[in-house]
Amino acid sequence: MDQLIVEFDKALRTLFAPARTVRPVPGGDMPDTLLSDAQREHVAGLMRVNHCGEICAQALYQGQAIMSRDASVRRELEQASNEETEHLAWTEQRIAELGGRKSLLNPLWYGGSLALGMLAGRLGDRWNLGFLAETERQVEAHLGGHLDQLPAEDQKSRETIRQMKIDEARHADTAIGLGAQELPGPVKAAMKIMARVMTTTSYRV
Ligand SMILES: [Fe+2]
Ligand SMILES: [Fe+2]
Repeated sequence: MDQLIVEFDKALRTLFAPARTVRPVPGGDMPDTLLSDAQREHVAGLMRVNHCGEICAQALYQGQAIMSRDASVRRELEQASNEETEHLAWTEQRIAELGGRKSLLNPLWYGGSLALGMLAGRLGDRWNLGFLAETERQVEAHLGGHLDQLPAEDQKSRETIRQMKIDEARHADTAIGLGAQELPGPVKAAMKIMARVMTTTSYRV
């Protein structure tokens, strides 16, 4: 019961309280360049997608940590999850600076990701870590795509995304180092489809 309350509290905080960051926001002290309305709206959309992705990451890690049997795996999940909280804070700040808003669908994606994380966790730590590694690889690639899409003038957003991309790659490497199992191709493909639904909807809603 206590555990349930702790986890529920975590969910509420992720969804509704401002996230905190220990590291300074990458690019946070750079001056904001003047963007056109269309550019500003586009970047806010990209940042909304990334913010939603970080909400999903919180839920995935939470679900996986609840189910993991190995204390060292749980510790690694918590460490990575702390960095995801920072990503949450960074994207949140950038959305506010751009005058945008967070995705209305965040609670929905949180619930789905939590269930998925728990499912991965139930399959045992090697699969759990495999799921984590693949998620991080896909997020890393996705962030690379955003770097290409950002207006050249927006160095601030670029700095934030660049650091996030470095962190996600490290999360994947850590999972592989801990013995992640390579996922079957169809599972990876299904994850990509799901990610695509998330990114296209949260860009708009
Ligand atoms: Fe992240
Ligand atoms: Fe990550």
